[in-house]
Amino acid sequence: MSRKQHWDTAYDQKSEGQFSWHQETPALSLELMQEAGITRACSVIDIGGGTSRIVDSLLDMGLSDIAVLDLSENALRAAQRRLGMPGATVTWIAADITTWQAGRQFDIWHDRAVFHFLIDPADRAAYIRALSDSLSPGGHAIIATFAPDGPDKCSGLPVQRYSPDMLAATLGVQFKLLRHHHHLHQTPWGTPQAFQFSLFRKTG
Ligand SMILES: C[S@@+](CC[C@H](N)C(=O)[O-])C[C@H]1O[C@@H](n2cnc3c(N)ncnc32)[C@H](O)[C@@H]1O
Repeated sequence: MSRKQHWDTAYDQKSEGQFSWHQETPALSLELMQEAGITRACSVIDIGGGTSRIVDSLLDMGLSDIAVLDLSENALRAAQRRLGMPGATVTWIAADITTWQAGRQFDIWHDRAVFHFLIDPADRAAYIRALSDSLSPGGHAIIATFAPDGPDKCSGLPVQRYSPDMLAATLGVQFKLLRHHHHLHQTPWGTPQAFQFSLFRKTG
């Protein structure tokens, strides 16, 4: 089964509250966006956004340049259905982050639980190229992955776990680590999962 088929099937079979990664409010992501200095004038892209409610919060904050990218068209359709009319102002991008070319730049890149699925070094390199190309100079990236004490699989797929330092070393010197948090996510059925959330600034 291809990567896309895996995720389309997952979103076809379950609704948002049945996914281990579901959050009612993406509080820590929003806190890090505040630390990055987010304003209504900022452009934000949520990578592998799925059915995440971060887009709802960004719309509530009055942002008008929001993009959500995901491999799964089923996920994007479900998020659009939930949002209704306000979702019409969002740019929905059905693409694999390892082959996508933005053709523009964003002020803030957000990724919760996507980079850690890239266990092939070539896929990681492609992701970092996309990040580098599509983030404005001085722009910020928030990347959340399972931490070293987190699960080694998600949605039945193997993941690479990271500490903030390991993630910084993987992204390279162009991305300066500004803040990091160890975070225990509670799945909808109450199982704790250890994440790291890191905030980076693109230098140079
Ligand atoms: C664990 S879910 C996290 C969803 C969302 N970020 C959140 O926090 O609720 C991972 C998401 O990444 C998407 N995804 C996985 N691999 C991807 C890839 N190579 N390119 C784009 N999206 C991908 C999946 O379709 C899924 O929506």
